[in-house]
Amino acid sequence: MKILSIETSCDESALTILECSGTLEAPTFNILADSVASQIKIHAEYGGVFPQLAKREHGKALVPLLLETLTKASMCVGIDTPYTFDIHMLDREPELQSAFKELSYIQKPDIDCIAITTGPGLEPALWVGISFAKVLSIMWDIPVIPINHMEGHVVSGILPTELTNGVLSVKPVSFPAIALLISGGHTELIHIKAPLSYIKIGQTRDDAVGEAFDKVARTLGIPYPGGPAISKLAQNARDEGLTLEESFTRPMLHTNDYDFSFSGLKTKVLYFVRDLAELTDQYKKKIAREFEDAVTEVLVKKTMKALSDTGSHTLLVGGGVAANTHIKKILVSKCQEQDITVYFPRPDTATDNALMIGMSAYMRIIGGAVYVDPLTLTANGNWSITEV
Ligand code: KG4
Ligand code: ZN
Repeated sequence: MKILSIETSCDESALTILECSGTLEAPTFNILADSVASQIKIHAEYGGVFPQLAKREHGKALVPLLLETLTKASMCVGIDTPYTFDIHMLDREPELQSAFKELSYIQKPDIDCIAITTGPGLEPALWVGISFAKVLSIMWDIPVIPINHMEGHVVSGILPTELTNGVLSVKPVSFPAIALLISGGHTELIHIKAPLSYIKIGQTRDDAVGEAFDKVARTLGIPYPGGPAISKLAQNARDEGLTLEESFTRPMLHTNDYDFSFSGLKTKVLYFVRDLAELTDQYKKKIAREFEDAVTEVLVKKTMKALSDTGSHTLLVGGGVAANTHIKKILVSKCQEQDITVYFPRPDTATDNALMIGMSAYMRIIGGAVYVDPLTLTANGNWSITEV
């Protein structure tokens, strides 16, 4: 089965065409085409993602991206008599509306299903992708399935880097398992009792961990998204043996739950910097290290507790912060000590992408999910993974 997946929940417009086969326990994927347009540079000027700006950029990006994706998959064939479509369905997406006509002159591609992220995320951004999926689904008469973005991050970890017999066969997961989702918008611990069955057992009570990285970066004068830069500075400090003279409190380290809080830590950094006579490069490195150490310690402790309390032997890590090498190193070594299999996404699938949405869609479809009427698709900015 061939799936076209569409992801617009935040600041990446991403499309993938996947050829999928196999069972729910052992699916295989062949990536026919994968395209992404990142808005990071545009948002960097403003220090964060602006929903209305994201919406406009998705609207501009989606049609050219789909043409590029279809071309890569050898599915872009022009026709003389255009398909008819309801232009008014795009009244709320002016950028998409003006570009869409071009697609009506493309032959219906050999695609069995359209998978669309409908939440969680920024609603104005989600809506652009949803309107796009809706019109494509009706125009080409291709069924559509709504996908939860966080479920996408969960499955992103089981995709291998290497092909086996020309396809990507997922890594084996034993259940129950735990997923640690760490991104710019979320910090969650998920108990996965069986395939496609999720219980959120812990989450942040305020800022997400990626958000804290980005805000600390801003305090240190580093542009958005500052996570990777903070991580580099912290590594420099470790390499040079630099430590901060003060230890930041590890938030909620000793609470008997799986929840997190990063807002206090971010504020601590702000006050620390405010009280400094001068924010030197040395201080930037030392602060980044102390901050990253504090974050890592809490994430690792709560994750190991969740694994042991639920009797889980597999850990899936997903979300942009899963690209953090220090967090990865410490988690991997703790998991090794306790005979736990841990999977991280490939670097290109840690951050938002459409590949994970297509994978999740295929697993849902073979797990018995039914297609929905495209007209009923709606954005749900707070859609919890527990409700999928
Ligand atoms: O999953 P993602 O692409 O988007 C959301 O759904 O939020 O995650 C983006 C977040 C940003 O906050 C970014 O700073 C953070 O992931 N990030 C990192 C690293 N790479 C990306 N944070 C820490 N260390 C990194 N290496
Ligand atoms: Zn994400």
